[in-house]
Amino acid sequence: MNIHTAINTISEKGFLDIDIDATTDLFAEIERLKKEKNAIVLAHYYQEPDIQDVADYIGDSLGLAQKAAQTNADMIVFAGVHFMAETAKILNPSKKVLLPDLKAGCSLADSAPGPQFKAFKDKHPGHLVVSYINCTAEIKALSDIICTSGNAEKIIESIPEDQPIIFAPDKNLGAYLNKKTGRDMLLWNGACMVHEIFSLEKITKLKIRHPKAKLLAHPECEEPILRIADYIGSTTQLLKFAVKDDSREYIVATETGILHQMQKDAPNKTFIPAPPNNSCACNDCPHMKLNTLEKLYLCMEYELPEITMEENLRLAAKKPIDRMLEISKAAGLIG
Ligand code: 13P
Ligand code: SF4
Repeated sequence: MNIHTAINTISEKGFLDIDIDATTDLFAEIERLKKEKNAIVLAHYYQEPDIQDVADYIGDSLGLAQKAAQTNADMIVFAGVHFMAETAKILNPSKKVLLPDLKAGCSLADSAPGPQFKAFKDKHPGHLVVSYINCTAEIKALSDIICTSGNAEKIIESIPEDQPIIFAPDKNLGAYLNKKTGRDMLLWNGACMVHEIFSLEKITKLKIRHPKAKLLAHPECEEPILRIADYIGSTTQLLKFAVKDDSREYIVATETGILHQMQKDAPNKTFIPAPPNNSCACNDCPHMKLNTLEKLYLCMEYELPEITMEENLRLAAKKPIDRMLEISKAAGLIG
């Protein structure tokens, strides 16, 4: 497909569908484009290994938001999902923000449609709205403070105890936070399709076969999984724990992309992906994995697909993100 046809089909396909010569050294080309265009490639840990290896920064949602807020690059290439690139755009209106595949969405963000959430919020006046960053700009604009899995506990603790709170969109993270902080937040009924797939029965059997293995779990997992976890944290926190801890074996209950960095940073340890409740590779996020090295290269070369946003929405969505960054800074979670 030529570039003109590819541009015309971007809204239908989500990406530039252009054939790339198989001999192209995509790693070298991406490095060239980074320099030529003063571009930074930010990647989430759930991206495929090649993308992680070519990224300038790999992180969890909190680290990525902070990096996006601080960068001097002219172009931010976001190897992650739509809400992450949208957050980068909210923080950088004058920079070009690219996402290799616009269809890289998020089941959790999709579980909170704007109009329904607005009606829910209106039904509960007097509540402060804390939203997990995995939500659309529309939901952010309806929120008072944004949080990520890396700072959620500190964010909730910064709110006076007698203040009623709505927590959206992840009911699993919300329930975990209620338990950790002793709050009784009203929870929106959303969830992540990847973190709800783990099988308690299979993990329990795996633990019996590997008695010394520690279970590392992301707080988006359901309560029965979290109950038996040895450590719960954001992707960055799970990685740091795995590197520092003195065990040799770990069962990892989050998206499999994180295993690449775990294996790189702790090469002598064994990391086993937690089994899902059926035989598919369901702990691969189908949204995150829509991005490929080819699409990353094409979006840098042709500067498309680009994230754009209406200014009033951007300003309304920015306020609760700024609040999150301020609280995280004050709590020493970011520099
Ligand atoms: P963190 O990046 O906060 O660990 O969250 C994981 C996730 O599901 C991102 O989509
Ligand atoms: Fe969304 Fe879950 Fe995929 Fe993260 S892993 S992007 S929360 S669907």
